[in-house]
Amino acid sequence: MSNDGVNAGRRRFLVAATSVVGAAGAVGAAVPFVGSWFPSAKAKAAGAPVKVNIAKIEPGQQMVAEWRGQPVFIVRRTPEILGNLQKVVAELADPQSKDSVQPAYVDPQMRSIRPEILILVGLCTHLGCSPTYRPEVAPVDLGPKWVGGYFCPCHGSHYDLAGRVYKSQPAPLNLPVPPHAYESDDIIVIGVDQENA
Ligand code: FES
Repeated sequence: MSNDGVNAGRRRFLVAATSVVGAAGAVGAAVPFVGSWFPSAKAKAAGAPVKVNIAKIEPGQQMVAEWRGQPVFIVRRTPEILGNLQKVVAELADPQSKDSVQPAYVDPQMRSIRPEILILVGLCTHLGCSPTYRPEVAPVDLGPKWVGGYFCPCHGSHYDLAGRVYKSQPAPLNLPVPPHAYESDDIIVIGVDQENA
């Protein structure tokens, strides 16, 4: 609560979120109205850590923050989403994230500190497009086997809802997990390692 008071004047709503996420209308509608606050534009460009309040992200929703000029996806995963992660393991290129980028304190399969909160750099590991959040199960365009994930609109790479890439995709690696730390249950600091929080 004290954070709200101190930072209220610097809050910025993420009006750019829908354009970052992608073109599909349904996806835009899924982006919650979440406030966050940032350092100055200069400090951001230099890589300053970014604080994000995740309190208003509903289960199953994604919000998009920005860190170092990159989109950062933050998803509140449901028990159903977490259960589906196990079902696709055999179809993934790097299910244990051995070759992919994430901090050592992140679970390499769940790819998060807290299982329900997923935080990813939202840039495809092929050529850097921003993948689209597609949490639906078996949508018509992605087929009956789709259990929710990310779809890159540029060359069609598929990722699961831990940011792990499927086999035989243009993208070679999982979406990176940025350094991050919990200042409290609802406040995440992106760009700072958990040990230093
Ligand atoms: S940039 Fe994502 S598949 Fe090519």
